[in-house]
Amino acid sequence: MRYGIFSDVHSNLEALSAVLLAYQQEHIERFFCIGDIVGYATDVHDCIALIRGLKAKIVAGNHDWGASGKFDLEHFNPNAKEALAWTGKILSQAESDFLKGLPLEHSEENFTLAHGTLDSPEEFYYLNNYDEAVRTFAVLEKQICFVGHTHRPGVFVEAEDNLFYKPLTRLELEDRKRYIVNVGSVGQPRDGDSRACFVVYDTEDRTIELKRLAYNFSATQEKILKAGLPDFLARRLGEGR
Ligand SMILES: [Fe+2]
Repeated sequence: MRYGIFSDVHSNLEALSAVLLAYQQEHIERFFCIGDIVGYATDVHDCIALIRGLKAKIVAGNHDWGASGKFDLEHFNPNAKEALAWTGKILSQAESDFLKGLPLEHSEENFTLAHGTLDSPEEFYYLNNYDEAVRTFAVLEKQICFVGHTHRPGVFVEAEDNLFYKPLTRLELEDRKRYIVNVGSVGQPRDGDSRACFVVYDTEDRTIELKRLAYNFSATQEKILKAGLPDFLARRLGEGR
């Protein structure tokens, strides 16, 4: 099977459309979304509808629960909070109920999905250091945990007696190792590269591959500014931060 796994779309329709088009060339059988469908950019309704249309398995991100009132906005920085308040106002009741109803984790076969860390997914901590990786591996019952949230792709590898981190490009899975794979962000990458991130997991080849894709972020930037949202949210898309 070939799985399309992505995260952190953040209402960025230009990035999502480009990624979905690219996925068409990848012969994907099933999709998985690791949360933060909304927040930051403005195409809330279209992004929710497109992702629901994929029949994807979806877990909740902090922005999904923030926009729908399930996670306190006090947890967010001022820019994020402003975008979430804006998003919350335009959500329909059905969209809000959908976001609120997203689960914190999902497991099947040899993998689990969670937005932040797996040991306390409801806190939405960033899985961006070895201590957090150790805690997630301690509760992980599968070989792989796919995460998002940091908007920076990469992989923690748990080998016999050691743990190391490496960039995610093309990963060949090995039986005796376990992995925490951060799939990066479709709609707001923060690793200094403005191109959208998406992942293809091929369960037969046993490979996990990160793809990068340039998209028309200036259209997204214009919409953010036109909506009166903070300039920084537009600027960062061009800088990948
Ligand atoms: Fe996010």
